[in-house]
Amino acid sequence: MPRLPAKLTGVARYLPPRLLTNADLEKMVDTTSEWIFERTGIHQRHIVDKGVASSHLATEAARQLLEEKKVSPDEIDMIVVATVTPDMFFPSTACLVQNNLKCRRAWGFDLVAACSGFVYALTVAAQFVAAGSHKKALVIGADVMTSILNFEDRATCVLFGDGAGAVLVEPCQPGEEGILDFHHDIDGSGGCFLYMPAGGSLNPASHETVDKKMHTVHQEGREVFKYAVRRMVEVPKLLLERNGFSANDLKLLVPHQANQRIIKATANRLGLEDSRVVLNIDKYGNTTAGTIPIALVDALNEGRLKKDDLVMLLAVGAGYTTGALLLRWAY
Ligand code: UT7
Repeated sequence: MPRLPAKLTGVARYLPPRLLTNADLEKMVDTTSEWIFERTGIHQRHIVDKGVASSHLATEAARQLLEEKKVSPDEIDMIVVATVTPDMFFPSTACLVQNNLKCRRAWGFDLVAACSGFVYALTVAAQFVAAGSHKKALVIGADVMTSILNFEDRATCVLFGDGAGAVLVEPCQPGEEGILDFHHDIDGSGGCFLYMPAGGSLNPASHETVDKKMHTVHQEGREVFKYAVRRMVEVPKLLLERNGFSANDLKLLVPHQANQRIIKATANRLGLEDSRVVLNIDKYGNTTAGTIPIALVDALNEGRLKKDDLVMLLAVGAGYTTGALLLRWAY
């Protein structure tokens, strides 16, 4: 089983200051605060002002991380940005962040795995650190979901928010445990249930694609919900079992925040009480690649993460993509 000598040594986040509440949405689409909260658990979400893009959120999260860790930008070897809302197709968001922060030695790239993006990016970066070729990797999950929402579609526009989180990945000391194991899989048969139809090579931007709102999120919510609930239970069980653990050993589950009902069903089926599951969707909505690092900051601020705690990061998203990481919290 992969035990990677790589660990998370810091985490920070950036949320744009402006809030969009359920009450605000009531004035925009045919919905109610009660429906949104009862069906999703969301009260409010942070949203960007015009002109603010994923690279800006990513840069702010990473800048704060480097400041807190007292790491110079020149020490960063690699930047991986998970996003489905890059500022533009190219250059990559990683290049924009690298330039903003002046991480002169770093290489990097963007990774597209929707809501599982942060977990995938963390696994990829950890391989380079574990291999010994990289000493400090920045992994960022950043999305400006409001840039791809149709604010006339009540079924999707109430679900998402904007935000970013960043972690630093460094080598473990001899004998120290870091990332214990991971599981990732994709199931492309689910691609038709959550996607953005236009803007790529299949449907390049045209008046027609804009008129038909094809540059926005399309989702069959019930299909995604069923898949998510099933996989969010199967994958943790698999990872725990093959590492000789049970759910009792897990100090904290940090799940992707897509729907409070998905998280509660997952926790219930795994036998995890509320104190062992991070649930913060009420404050931020679904920030796609941002949810897990944002949730880690909340957990740290609330004193819910201590050195050597067994922690699982878990996500299911568009694709379908599934990703989970089992780790020992390192500080
Ligand atoms: O992070 C990426 C992965 N994404 C997910 O994991 C999302 C998974 N899916 C979900 O979280 C849920 O399916 C939703 C929150 C998206 C929807 O909840 P639901 O309980 O599955 O609702 P539904 O789509 O079955 O719709 C139920 C009813 C419908 O009305 P009818 O057909 O029963 O008359 C919808 O038109 O609720 C209606 N509805 C709304 N009503 C008020 C849908 N959106 C709204 C709304 N306000 N915003």
